[in-house]
Amino acid sequence: MRFDNAFLDEIRARLPVSQVVSRRVPLKRQGREYKGLSPFKTEKTPSFTVNDQKAFYHCFATGEHGDIFKFLMQTEGLSFPEAVEQLAGEAGVPMPVVTPEQRQQQDDRGRLYELMAASQEFFRNQLAGTAGRDAARYLDGRELDSEIQTHFGLGYAPRDRNALKSHLNKLGFRERDAISAGMLIGGEDIAVSYDRFRHRIMFPITDMKGRVIAFGGRALDPDAPAKYLNSPETPLFHKGHILYNAAGARQAAYESEQIVVVEGYMDVIAMARAGVPQAVAPLGTALTEAQIAILWRMAPEPILCFDGDAAGQKAAHRGVETALPGLKPGLSLRFAFMPSGQDPDDLLKLEGPAAVKSVLAQSKPLAEVLWDKEWTAGEWTTPERRASLEATLRKHVATIQDEGVRNHYNRDISDRLFHAWRTMRTQKAPRPERGGGGGTRRNTFNRDPSAPPFRTPPTSSLLQSTLVRGAADQAIGREALLLHALINHPDLVDDYTDEIAELAVHNTALRDLRDGILQAHAANKALDTAMLRGHLTRLGCDQGCAVIARMTGHKSDRFAEPEASLDEAREGWLHTLALHTGKHLEFDVHRAGEDLLNELSEEAFARLKDVQNQRATVEGQTRVRDD
Ligand code: UTP
Ligand code: MN
Repeated sequence: MRFDNAFLDEIRARLPVSQVVSRRVPLKRQGREYKGLSPFKTEKTPSFTVNDQKAFYHCFATGEHGDIFKFLMQTEGLSFPEAVEQLAGEAGVPMPVVTPEQRQQQDDRGRLYELMAASQEFFRNQLAGTAGRDAARYLDGRELDSEIQTHFGLGYAPRDRNALKSHLNKLGFRERDAISAGMLIGGEDIAVSYDRFRHRIMFPITDMKGRVIAFGGRALDPDAPAKYLNSPETPLFHKGHILYNAAGARQAAYESEQIVVVEGYMDVIAMARAGVPQAVAPLGTALTEAQIAILWRMAPEPILCFDGDAAGQKAAHRGVETALPGLKPGLSLRFAFMPSGQDPDDLLKLEGPAAVKSVLAQSKPLAEVLWDKEWTAGEWTTPERRASLEATLRKHVATIQDEGVRNHYNRDISDRLFHAWRTMRTQKAPRPERGGGGGTRRNTFNRDPSAPPFRTPPTSSLLQSTLVRGAADQAIGREALLLHALINHPDLVDDYTDEIAELAVHNTALRDLRDGILQAHAANKALDTAMLRGHLTRLGCDQGCAVIARMTGHKSDRFAEPEASLDEAREGWLHTLALHTGKHLEFDVHRAGEDLLNELSEEAFARLKDVQNQRATVEGQTRVRDD
């Protein structure tokens, strides 16, 4: 029996390889892959790798390589059709019964794909021709050059009610196929069918393979009843399961280990123009669970972008609630907020690519957005109100299906509540409430300096440079190295506890790891490497360990390895620390300088002097150690 590729892809899309494999082989996440002991030979060190994004496994010991179907064939001795049948059942995809009608249906789908491709071709030619002059001028006005237009396959649907209809007819496509594909509006109560999209800029929407399955059309006429019009649901297009530009973003997402979700077509294109090609958008609706699942196959922590205004925050909160049930170890969402009233396209136009990137760089983790959502919803001035806040938060957390993630969320909530109540107690007691008017104080202590709510992004020229990216990578490299040395030489933790606690750690996984090291240190008298590693594993710091594995191992960093003597380790560690702090300060000096130019206040001047002094001190130390 021959299986249709789309059918097999559907099963692959629903069952991550790690899920199928982990029933037989215990796996550990390592960066964007999983590792485990090879099922094909006996071994002590794991050489078996699973990559969900690429949907395959690979065994470096034996060279075995394949997808979920092959895995069952190899490990359970099933035939291909048997493997397909079993996994289809698991994925909830009905087995194709190949009746003549179904063969017919497949042929129908094939014709619809061809029809969509022909339509796109038509729209493109229209944009290039005289009919598309206004459209071309419009795109020009929005600063979309021809390269971008070609990349996104943009086109123009003419005003004429029969333009596409007669074109498709000439090519021999049937009217009822054009209706079923959503390109013509027609049916029983419509005597004469006509083009659905008229006088619109056309954005083709593709499936993961890049085949056109639908269109979005932006009206050129400002009085058109709908600014954007999308294809209806068709046999090819189910909009809750599709993200605009998913095929285009896939490679960039894999390379950058990041995927960005924006609201609309123009925003996806703005992101690409701003140097962020890994951007996608849902199609005029809130993000669905199915779409989040697609995102997680592209990157572990997709960033959702929203307008910073009230509506944007509401949309973000809806995203939080949609994502909570499906959270898995290592898989979450982050949230980035644009300045109020702006979408990425506006921001790019007003402030340039650096501003867009800086908004992304300031994205917040899901746990924090959840907290902010409930925290800002009331004033927690009485025990009853505080209890209700906690109950609401716990209720959200209870929707998380994965037990491990749920436990960590509960702990996170406890920490935040603990911190909040403590801060509340140490603040001066609230005045007695007057005339039943409720609390007059806002929750001022929510202004945790490390998490300012929705600030506007810095737009300095400094952030524009590649310097920031390069500096960030270097910084993470040094952070990894510092922590790596601590794991191999735990005596250093005892000697430099304060320095470690104050260390500026940019990478969140590494920050968790640092906290884990401090915790282990606080809980144990004489810490050795094995104990420390055990502790970190129990705390779920695997991701931080993976970052270390990726970022360390240079020859010049031998001090951090177990072979180095404690003295060597100490010297290298202090040197790296000084370098790290110095670089960090250099950045601060730049920023303070820019602030001064903007503000010209005594305060800004004092701040600049202060960081300059700090830097001078640290540089002195570095230099002494250098020779
Ligand atoms: P916006 O109204 O924010 O448009 O809709 P936009 O993306 O900023 O577009 P420009 O800059 O005015 O050209 C955001 C998204 O919501 C959907 C579309 O997917 C759009 O990209 N939408 C909007 C619709 O589906 N229908 C509409 O009538 C409006
Ligand atoms: Mn816009």
